[in-house]
Amino acid sequence: MSSVATIKRNNIPPHLEVKGGRPLSGILKVSGAKNSSLALMAAALLTKEKLLIQNVPQLTDIEVMSEILRNLGAKLTKINNSIEINSESIHNVELPYELVNSLRASFFCVGPLLTRLGEAKIPLPGGCNIGARPVDEHINGLKALGAEVEVINDVVKAQVSTKDKRLLGANITLKYPSVGATETILMASCLALGKTTISNPAREPEIQDLAKMLNSMGAKVFGAGTKRITILGVKSLSGTSHCVIPDRIEAGTFLIAAAITRSPLIIGPVIPNHLSAVISKLKECGCSISQHGNHHLKIIPREISGVDITTSPFPGFPTDLQAPFMSLMVTAKGSSKIKERVFEKRMQHVLELNKMGACIYLENNTAYIKGVKELVGSYVEGGDLRSSAAIILACLSAKGNSIFTGLEHLDRGYEKLEEKLTSAGSIISRKFDQLTSHSSFSNKIISKDNIDTQKNAA
Ligand code: EPZ
Repeated sequence: MSSVATIKRNNIPPHLEVKGGRPLSGILKVSGAKNSSLALMAAALLTKEKLLIQNVPQLTDIEVMSEILRNLGAKLTKINNSIEINSESIHNVELPYELVNSLRASFFCVGPLLTRLGEAKIPLPGGCNIGARPVDEHINGLKALGAEVEVINDVVKAQVSTKDKRLLGANITLKYPSVGATETILMASCLALGKTTISNPAREPEIQDLAKMLNSMGAKVFGAGTKRITILGVKSLSGTSHCVIPDRIEAGTFLIAAAITRSPLIIGPVIPNHLSAVISKLKECGCSISQHGNHHLKIIPREISGVDITTSPFPGFPTDLQAPFMSLMVTAKGSSKIKERVFEKRMQHVLELNKMGACIYLENNTAYIKGVKELVGSYVEGGDLRSSAAIILACLSAKGNSIFTGLEHLDRGYEKLEEKLTSAGSIISRKFDQLTSHSSFSNKIISKDNIDTQKNAA
């Protein structure tokens, strides 16, 4: 399927072996942002000219998006972390279920297809391991811009029935500041007739990165990153070259890797104001973090104490770092409470962390944590991308060795993770040998009385 798919050998899926308890040192390099790259690649459909996107991470999600664009008729040329996309001869308006089902971000193609070809037919992206993931805000936005959109047998059929096949600018207010819906509306309105405004848009850095590239293609987007975005439709967009922003979620994961192994580290490149909420919580729990040169951060962990977090849209604490931060809180002194407010099923790491000796009580979407002195290396399994990262951070900190399975999740969002960690002193390797059964680790269930008065004091 793709050059960086989680490759099996003799049809045996790989696993990671992690030797825990080792300090890290030196520099952890941050790759380009996955979630920005996926939207930028979809935006390439908006122009007939060549588009060069640089600093694209080599991930399975990027490979799938590349196959989706090829399926639509685009031509892609990849050289290391750069992708040149030529969408001049796109002709196909339909996306096959198996591609859409493996990458929800494929839905980003609807807006550009409507704009370029006047129609789009894409299976409804199903839910995933972290929630139902509806796309009603995307659909409402496209309808407001004059598209006819219907969902029949879980297939979204959209078309532009205006006389010159052009979408019409509109004033749109999002019920929820959805990242994907904001990006869909941004891309669909760039070439619409007239002005579009988006009230209550997502304000994430990835939105700002997309707006920056669209403007370099000749679009007129104002206010990305603020509470109101204005787009003045233009007739056509040109090609451009654009460098993807650093991945703030990978950077945050690495800051937490430093904290959980109590290791001073340098992380970068980073744009600090993309991580303000995370840096503030890491300082609150006992880390000193300072600018190092122009594009790096230096983190020095001291004694780590429990702090509470609640996830929310940017600039709040990012849901994508909830799981990694929980791993840190599990090893902190004292208690903490973590509330997940963005997705409804994003607590799959709790069971695995408790298996390693953590003390987490979960009630609905709130985790009550009592810090423990030490985690124990175990046989653990990742259930989604960010839970997998969290579990690996816990393995780095644990006493003894761990076996991690679920690399098909991890490889979606972290470029060469084991190479980067090894370069910083970890002993972590990808193995392809058949695993024997592993029931030796008990599935420890944490009940209410495991969590002392912490919950009542919360
Ligand atoms: C993007 O997903 C990211 N993915 C996610 O990263 C990230 O967690 C999320 O934004 C929040 O920051 C990409 O950019 C490819 P949303 P997206 O629309 O766009 C509800 C990762 O780990 N909602 O902001 O799907 C939805 O159910 C991934 O890298 C609607 O109700 O996020 C959810 O509860 C995971 N209707 C909330 O909004 C809609 O039409 C946030 O979703 C759309 C969303």
